[in-house]
Amino acid sequence: MNKIKATAIAHPNIALIKYWGKRNDELKIPTVSSISVTLDNLYTKTTVEFNEKFEEDKFSLNDKTVTGGVVLKRVIELLDLIRKHSKKNQFAKVVSENNFPDAAGLASSSSAFAALTMAGCNAIGYGINKKEMSIIARQGSGSACRSIFGGFVEWKKGKKDDGTDSFAEQIADEKHWEDFRIIVLIVNPKEKKIKSTEGMKISVNSSELYEAWIKASENDAGKIKQYLLEKNLTETGKIAEQNCLRMHSVMISSDPSLIYWNPETVTLIDKIQAMQSNGLDLHFTIDAGPNIKIICQEKDVEKILNCLEQAPFIHDFVVCSPGKGAEIVDDHLF
Ligand code: PMV
Repeated sequence: MNKIKATAIAHPNIALIKYWGKRNDELKIPTVSSISVTLDNLYTKTTVEFNEKFEEDKFSLNDKTVTGGVVLKRVIELLDLIRKHSKKNQFAKVVSENNFPDAAGLASSSSAFAALTMAGCNAIGYGINKKEMSIIARQGSGSACRSIFGGFVEWKKGKKDDGTDSFAEQIADEKHWEDFRIIVLIVNPKEKKIKSTEGMKISVNSSELYEAWIKASENDAGKIKQYLLEKNLTETGKIAEQNCLRMHSVMISSDPSLIYWNPETVTLIDKIQAMQSNGLDLHFTIDAGPNIKIICQEKDVEKILNCLEQAPFIHDFVVCSPGKGAEIVDDHLF
């Protein structure tokens, strides 16, 4: 019997320079390059087994079997891609778990598809390097290509039509900036209404600000890299914050309008701005959901959390440092 199994752990990443929109929907080739930090304390763990005896692909997430819908479809499409590249044709059993809420703008798809790609390629015996893995992971979920790498990462948009030059690369590893912290504030762990795939299409097709966004992003990406290398939090944070607000301007000005924030998000922005006015060096970023991520230095984490104590609507928070890239581990989930 030919039975092959592998398990990978991958961490979500948070974009400091955002990806919002594709120039090729099918291959998930973005309109702009993006830059992220991989988070250490949150993870997806995924075990994949290919087996010639299996009669279909099976997937379970957080102990629940997924029997249909878009999530299962995307998992099967990624498995198909791995089968196509490796020229092997067996069905797979995939078991996955996250240690954080799904689809709440916490980039769960980034860790999910990075872990699935790495475990899948290893299980089927398809030996490729991280760059090639990042190209496969990208086709599961764009941002997943960045989670193949640890630390600070750039996803280059590439120029080619086939997407072979659209992959992630490490700018600096997880040890580069040891006191860099990301505080993930969870204000609403419910699933978001319009998933990013759909939201991006709406924005590309309807926001009058979209062209301006592409132009400004290029500029932001060029500048932030230098500040990351210099470990300059004030300038890194300023650019990240502006870039995030520009992305949300594109979202809000789309038709239909995409408003991912809720009243608590705005209250928190207000509190963060008050802390900034009081001289604290902290900055925020927000993805396609209501949750806020704060970037700051380790020395200020406690002060910031104390100031946020009067915000009872924060369900939970996680303090993260730059984390490692996706990796293979020995303990399987089944
Ligand atoms: O990879 P996706 O389809 O989950 O899109 C991620 C989009 C944002 O989180 C809003 C921005 C980003 O670059 O991660």
